[in-house]
Amino acid sequence: MTKPLSSRIALVTGASRGIGYATALALAHAGAHIVATARTVGGLEELDDAIKSAGSTATLVPLDLRDHEGIARLATALDERYHKLDILIGNAGIGGPSSPLDHVQPKDWDEVLAVNVTANWQLIRYFNPLLQKSDAARVVFVTSGASALARAYRGPYSASKAAIEALARTYAAENASTNVRVNLHSPGPTRTRLRATVMPSENPMTLPTAEDVAATILPLCLPSFQDTGKFYDFRAGKLMSFRAPA
Ligand SMILES: NC(=O)c1ccc[n+]([C@@H]2O[C@H](COP(=O)([O-])OP(=O)(O)OC[C@H]3O[C@@H](n4cnc5c(N)ncnc54)[C@H](OP(=O)(O)O)[C@@H]3O)[C@@H](O)[C@H]2O)c1
Repeated sequence: MTKPLSSRIALVTGASRGIGYATALALAHAGAHIVATARTVGGLEELDDAIKSAGSTATLVPLDLRDHEGIARLATALDERYHKLDILIGNAGIGGPSSPLDHVQPKDWDEVLAVNVTANWQLIRYFNPLLQKSDAARVVFVTSGASALARAYRGPYSASKAAIEALARTYAAENASTNVRVNLHSPGPTRTRLRATVMPSENPMTLPTAEDVAATILPLCLPSFQDTGKFYDFRAGKLMSFRAPA
């Protein structure tokens, strides 16, 4: 039987662990060829082994997403090799500092914005031409309830997630009449390293796993999925629209 994503090329950022790793594996199980990026080579190699066991294939790309020339080189390489990109998962992210806004160090602010926002804009910038060449490109950016909650001491992270939501919705609007569908996914608290770093006293076993979350990212990547400019809320278990401006 043909798998739903066979012959489709999927780029997943932050694929060395956590939600990115699980999403890459879920897409591979569905038949996609995975282009997996992150900085940690060991995590990417572990993913490669799991993808091979699932009967699919991967290209491993060790890359710091703050290296914009590296993103450009990857886009050129994928264009030469595959002439298109079908799925882009903008998942890589960091939690950043937990401190009052006036205590946040400029280098920490810059890093959160660089990884959580600017890198995703650079991905759009360099990969849009390849996405336009797909007959049904599907883009998912991973956001967080932090954007709306705006909790004390989590300012850089919350601001970065508000920015990625605006970025994704803008990209969706710009592609209303193309084959590119752009949506957000909000996982909610998930058992990963990022969560453990931000909430060290929490019992991780009380949280959903990255695999649980990945299973709900997969449907947004199918060629048959037509919604755009929306977000999937994992805890609510459904696709939601953003509030219309008053
Ligand atoms: N876990 C949660 O509770 C939760 C809740 C809401 C939203 N999210 C979002 O879900 C996404 C994934 O988070 P996670 O929980 O799975 O975290 P995680 O386990 O810490 O994984 C983060 C991934 O991002 C990559 N990454 C970080 N900095 C990078 C950089 N400079 N260049 C390239 N890759 C980089 C990491 O790879 P390397 O370190 O190997 O580079 C890793 O693969 C994030 O966008 C996060 O904001 C998570």
